[in-house]
Amino acid sequence: MKLTFSQTALPQEKAHDALVLFVPSGEKQFADAQKRIIADFPETKAVFDSGDFKAKRDSLAMTYLGGTTKSKSSRLLLVGVGESDKITLESIRRAAAAAAKAASGKKLKSLAIAVPTGLSLDAEGFGEAATEGFCLAAYKLTRYFSDKERTSNTLESLTFCSENKKTLADVKKGAEYAETVCNGTLLARTLATTPNNDMYPEKLADAAQKAGKEAGFKVTVLDKKKIEALKMYGLLAVNQGSKRPPVFIVMEYNGGSKNDKPIVLVGKGVTFDTGGVSIKPAAGMGEMKMDMHGAATVISTMKAAANLGLKVNLVGIVPSTENMVSGSAVVPGDVIVYNNNVSVEVDNTDAEGRLILADALIYAQKYKPQACIDLATLTGACVVALGMVTTGMMGTDAPLKSRLKLAGDYTHEYVCELPIYEEYEELIKGDITDIKNAGGRYAGAITAALFLKRFVGEMPWVHLDIAGTAMLSSDAPYAPKGASGVGVRLLCDMLRKWKG
Ligand code: BES
Ligand code: MN
Ligand code: ZN
Repeated sequence: MKLTFSQTALPQEKAHDALVLFVPSGEKQFADAQKRIIADFPETKAVFDSGDFKAKRDSLAMTYLGGTTKSKSSRLLLVGVGESDKITLESIRRAAAAAAKAASGKKLKSLAIAVPTGLSLDAEGFGEAATEGFCLAAYKLTRYFSDKERTSNTLESLTFCSENKKTLADVKKGAEYAETVCNGTLLARTLATTPNNDMYPEKLADAAQKAGKEAGFKVTVLDKKKIEALKMYGLLAVNQGSKRPPVFIVMEYNGGSKNDKPIVLVGKGVTFDTGGVSIKPAAGMGEMKMDMHGAATVISTMKAAANLGLKVNLVGIVPSTENMVSGSAVVPGDVIVYNNNVSVEVDNTDAEGRLILADALIYAQKYKPQACIDLATLTGACVVALGMVTTGMMGTDAPLKSRLKLAGDYTHEYVCELPIYEEYEELIKGDITDIKNAGGRYAGAITAALFLKRFVGEMPWVHLDIAGTAMLSSDAPYAPKGASGVGVRLLCDMLRKWKG
């Protein structure tokens, strides 16, 4: 999406497909806005007279303009934002998303946006939130359609207009930040939506290499031989039923000073999860092509952070494999002795995510990171607990948890902490091993986190269970059903505020 910024109240230079006006409700504000809009665009009088448009949150009205002098745009799109003193980043995101969906439904390509005045929101926040709504709402993966014309995303350019130079500069700052981050979110959606036959481990590694080239960070791909040499026995066990080899991807971005210890991001990269011998039911199994969403988020966050030039040192780690059924697959009862000497009984081959993350967490320790965050579509139990709205957060480091909580509230990629009291450890105690990889029906998200905790050593660590928030089974306001791209906006917001 091309962003431009024009120092005029309303666009003059160019004919846009539509001019978008954000309209507040609330008696006085609505009456004022109505007067102003009718004065500028007499064509809208009938809309207001009809009483159909009251500027309620996310409500829309489209008017066609007759080429008046005030704008050369052929359409005017009025978007309600609700009462002006209650407007938040989220109400702007949603209003912009509603406008974007209406515009892309009509195949419009270029939109002009008049930056509203008198909102309870600063201009930078407006630019950021509006851009997020416009970028994220109308996403669709189109590569597999034969009829590209009918199905491609159409929105190509956004022009923000304000008479005030300072306002416009602030809008630009917010909008450009958001565009870079949202391109990351969209990349994560694309990687996660792409099915296993086009996004198996080696393809995921190619995607990481490509992101590294484009944004300027280092990518190292360890192949099966190296994985064996490094004794990554969890990754090898899960991979053992698969024809396609595993990969272990390491990404490094150094935006901080040389002495800054890195922040390590770990992402679960199971490109397809059949459940293995503990096989999943057929219905809905196709969703498990998204079981590498944690990996997609980590790769995309690395790219966004590098493109933004964030002043932090980052390491991204992705263990990746399929979880398949075959004559050579790992079976329940098998024992893995990890490189940190922890022994694990594979009680359920469908609890594979934790088995491969364990190797990645052991590996992460060699960086002596100031923080380690893993993201994983790890448990159905987390979906039961928190649904598709909130990511489950568990970890050992209170300051890191509060950074993530703040970023979650800011971006509306919410996180909520679940407890990992040691009493729960009983549930994953092994009979012939230190621990087993499944703890029964109770507290499933928590026992998964307690499993991971055995592999984090002294690192300040947080685990984000994105099983519910990564795979949407119905549309959200600015994320269509399917892979959500969750985590990129969350992590970028946390990272840009890391020192501040
Ligand atoms: N990838 C799944 C978790 C999942 C389930 C993500 C539903 C999204 C939606 C994970 O590998 C898994 O199968 N977990 C098991 C663990 C159990 C066997 C202990 C689960 O949650 O059922
Ligand atoms: Mn599984
Ligand atoms: Zn899985």
